[in-house]
Amino acid sequence: MLAVDVCAPVGTVAHPLATPDDLAETARLVEAEGRRVVTAQVDVRDADALTAAVADGVARLGGLDVVLANAGIGLMDPAADPRQAFRDQLDVNLVGVWNTVHAAVPVLLEQGHGGAVVLTSSVFGLGGDGTGGGDGYVAGKHGVVGLMRTFATWLAPHGIRVNCVNPSGVATPMVLDPAVEALFGGP
Ligand SMILES: NC(=O)c1ccc[n+]([C@@H]2O[C@H](COP(=O)([O-])OP(=O)(O)OC[C@H]3O[C@@H](n4cnc5c(N)ncnc54)[C@H](O)[C@@H]3O)[C@@H](O)[C@H]2O)c1
Repeated sequence: MLAVDVCAPVGTVAHPLATPDDLAETARLVEAEGRRVVTAQVDVRDADALTAAVADGVARLGGLDVVLANAGIGLMDPAADPRQAFRDQLDVNLVGVWNTVHAAVPVLLEQGHGGAVVLTSSVFGLGGDGTGGGDGYVAGKHGVVGLMRTFATWLAPHGIRVNCVNPSGVATPMVLDPAVEALFGGP
């Protein structure tokens, strides 16, 4: 498994993101299952760094079968510049997904034996509150559904399946945060 995470804060985000210790814990849990893992601290907004991480991971692990574009940001700091919050949402939650797929899929195509791509969208596709961060989350997650459709058309002839998952509320650090609880009316 190649596990990639930024392991650092993203400027306008209100909730804590993963740390290097979190990524190390993920690696420990994978190895505890008897599987090999390579980790990389990479920002999905950095397409060149992603491509380099994929090349390194594939060289060390011997190939690639499944791509999961899951990195995302949620609630933005209400004090953040709304224009920047909107752009950060789209850069991470939409452009980051495109970057991830375009870093990894060339390997699947070169291997020539198909594969699978899974994108994490969200049910958060309806409603909004007029904030830059909220609008950006909803627009970005709608965009991920669009990417799934165009990727599926592109990759089906190569035997590569593309789906997205649209979770509702899941108890992760993204939502187990006092500011998110306040937004949705308390714990
Ligand atoms: N938790 C929910 O209720 C919920 C609901 C619907 C969709 N989702 C989506 O599920 C996915 C996973 O979120 P989660 O709930 O596990 O939250 P999480 O905060 O636990 O995980 C998100 C991960 O993405 C990483 N990340 C953020 N920005 C990054 C960047 N620029 N580059 C690389 N890594 C970055 C974070 O460090 C973190 O480890 C996200 O796409 C999120 O939008 C979550």
